Amino acid sequence: MITEAKIDSTVKNMFAGIEFPAEPAGLYDPLRYMISIGGKRIRPKLCLTAYSIFNDRFCKGLSDVAEALEVFHSFTLLHDDIMDRSPLRRGRETVWKKWNEDTAILSGDVMQIDAYKRIAKAPADKLEAVLELFSKTAAEVCEGQQYDMDFESVDEVSMEDYCKMIGLKTAVLLACSAKMGALLAGASPAECNALYNYGYELGMAFQVADDYLDAFGDEKVFGKPIGGDILNCKKSWLTVRTCEKLGAEQAGQFLTEFGKDTSSPEENAAKIAEIKAWYTRSGVDSDAREEVARYTSKALDAVSGLGLSAPRFEVLKRFAGKLVGRAK
Ligand code: IPE
Ligand code: IPE
Ligand code: MG
Ligand code: MG
Ligand code: MG
Repeated sequence: MITEAKIDSTVKNMFAGIEFPAEPAGLYDPLRYMISIGGKRIRPKLCLTAYSIFNDRFCKGLSDVAEALEVFHSFTLLHDDIMDRSPLRRGRETVWKKWNEDTAILSGDVMQIDAYKRIAKAPADKLEAVLELFSKTAAEVCEGQQYDMDFESVDEVSMEDYCKMIGLKTAVLLACSAKMGALLAGASPAECNALYNYGYELGMAFQVADDYLDAFGDEKVFGKPIGGDILNCKKSWLTVRTCEKLGAEQAGQFLTEFGKDTSSPEENAAKIAEIKAWYTRSGVDSDAREEVARYTSKALDAVSGLGLSAPRFEVLKRFAGKLVGRAK
């Protein structure tokens, strides 16, 4: 069986050695920058992990597909950071801050094309299925990002709508990563779908954790500014759950404060502190941690009926477990 250590080292080497065209440097330097400043590489690791459940030898084209997933993800971050006005990513300046917005747009565009070039290197007999899954996922991520922005100016968002939004912007890419691995490994359609669902639930857990860390994380570890969602009036899991728990009147009061625009550093800090106080008074900080654990166990339920051997099931369990208590 392909070991987890082998997967980790393969992914590490993959991105240490990844190449983008040299010229024009103004276009490709931001790609090199995005990949070289790190990131957890969850999606390529998930792809190789899913593969390892069904196949004991890496196949040709697998690395290209795993690279494509990370390059595509990094492209979405490049554009997301413009949309969210975020100055920090992976503990470093974001591309639009370091260069400018035009650069982040165009380098993002070519990064997406680069991801397609890599995905097209999937084995010929699987190419049609791979491309169909990848393109469907890529469009869904855009749909989720649109809902995310739409929700900034909607008064109250239901938990159902919020879940649909994060399902699209985040969970489908983890689902796609897991299914890609299973597909390339030659798993059956039922197995591929189970891995898709496993990745989807992990993705839901992942975004709830991201929302939690955006308010309660440690900037040095998380690598992103704490309170960004609050300043952007983003409807995060914490916001939606707080409204659910408060009565209509109090929820109205909370949302009025949440929707306030701030500009000076002092106003920003005061808004973040005030909104976090609402969260902790409502207990949604611990609710979020429980929700992450709940989605993680749903992920395992999705693969529990596959009849995997204990060591293979344990690999999926450990992968899920690592995401639960994450601080970055
Ligand atoms: C950030 O993804 C965007 C979300 C979907 C929450 P990651 O947390 O995987 O970011 P990196 O790649 O590790 O920086
Ligand atoms: C990002 O959601 C999802 C995508 C990039 C598709 P966020 O906006 O919460 O991600 P971060 O917090 O900036 O990483
Ligand atoms: Mg965003
Ligand atoms: Mg963002
Ligand atoms: Mg976030």
